[in-house]
Amino acid sequence: MKHRIKFSSVLVAAALVFSATGAQATSFTKQGKDLTPAELEIVKQMVQGAALPTENELVHIPPSIDELENTDLHPKMKEAIRRGHDLFVNTQQLRGKNVFNNMNCSSCHLADGRMPYGGPVWPAAIDLPAYRPKNGHVNNLEERIAGCFTYSMNGKPPAYGSDDMLALSLYHQWLATGVPMFSKDKIYGRGFPKPADPELKPDAARGKVAYEANCTVCHGADGAGQTENGKVIFPALWGDDSYNWGAGISRVFTLAGFTKHNMPLGQPNTLSDQEAWDIAQYIDSQERPQDPRYTGNIKETREKYLETFHKHTMYGTEYNGKVLGDHDNVGHKDFLKPDILRDRDFTGAAVKP
Ligand code: HEC
Ligand code: HEC
Repeated sequence: MKHRIKFSSVLVAAALVFSATGAQATSFTKQGKDLTPAELEIVKQMVQGAALPTENELVHIPPSIDELENTDLHPKMKEAIRRGHDLFVNTQQLRGKNVFNNMNCSSCHLADGRMPYGGPVWPAAIDLPAYRPKNGHVNNLEERIAGCFTYSMNGKPPAYGSDDMLALSLYHQWLATGVPMFSKDKIYGRGFPKPADPELKPDAARGKVAYEANCTVCHGADGAGQTENGKVIFPALWGDDSYNWGAGISRVFTLAGFTKHNMPLGQPNTLSDQEAWDIAQYIDSQERPQDPRYTGNIKETREKYLETFHKHTMYGTEYNGKVLGDHDNVGHKDFLKPDILRDRDFTGAAVKP
């Protein structure tokens, strides 16, 4: 009995630490099998119903921005990390310059990019540079961030090496504090893990019904989300204010994973796997700004990026008598592809005397 009281008071303390802002450090880096009950409780509170870590998974809970003040980093470092965090959660401050839709980075990367199953961003800081099939060359962290600006924010990335780019990548790297570079362990809750395969083929008509029951209240029947006095309250799921056809979340399995583990907001993991797949199928059958890789021909573009990307999206397929993505609407920006996304060459062939 005595043991039980003590154990549960540890759990209560852990919950308090997790919900409190500031003071006590809650960050840790461990393999699943080495987690203490208090640490496991922190994970449980965060992922609310998603699968818990297996023995050999790497579990990393990053520090929160409130914990930054208690570290002994140089004040100039703290300033730069705070700036990176601010850009991450309020990316709309770059609206019209780098961002051309209603998103913040934190619209998809929940809990400031710290949450397992909510698209934690720190793995990119320990994993890159690495080869990425999406663009067929070795990418570094800045280029990965540039990718989300280009597709998810339907925008134009800040220049490589610029103050904003440095601050953002530093924020990612600081979140990864304590994780070994190029760790080979499988990372717990990385990305938006795919739900179990659906029993029935995902269906947009069933998805529409489930969408209207679970999502319309915040994101609207037209998927446009809600803004109040120019401030985005609920981001757009489709249309000109949303991510474009090249965004990672436009893959049905990624959107199903995001939806299952994070939506409806405040009730994660309450939809069935089938509902998550059907809703993703429905949302991915709506229009959005053109894929920045568009060649001018929808069939050709789908074909060109089929294997590495579009076999997972509805882009270039027919829905309700129309071919999705067959248009030259680039949303609120006035260009298709930002110049910064160039190919890379490590053969040395480009070196000229
Ligand atoms: C519309 C949703 C969305 C928005 C907005 C968004 N991202 Fe992403 N991001 C994704 C998806 C989807 C992935 C890929 C996850 C996967 O592979 O399962 C991703 C991946 C990443 C990764 C790699 C994570 C890893 O595990 O390696 C980083 C870093 C990242 N995003 C940073 C950003 C930054 C910085 C911003 C804001 C400038 C941003 N993202 C905005 C959807 C989004
Ligand atoms: C209670 C309001 C609410 C409900 C209900 C809700 N969402 Fe969200 N959703 C949000 C908010 C707020 C965000 C942005 C997250 C943030 O800023 O913390 C978001 C973000 C998203 C995003 C990523 C950003 C974007 O605009 O693409 C997707 C996708 C999404 N929701 C899908 C859904 C789906 C599917 C449902 C129904 C199963 C749903 N949401 C229900 C409030 C809600």
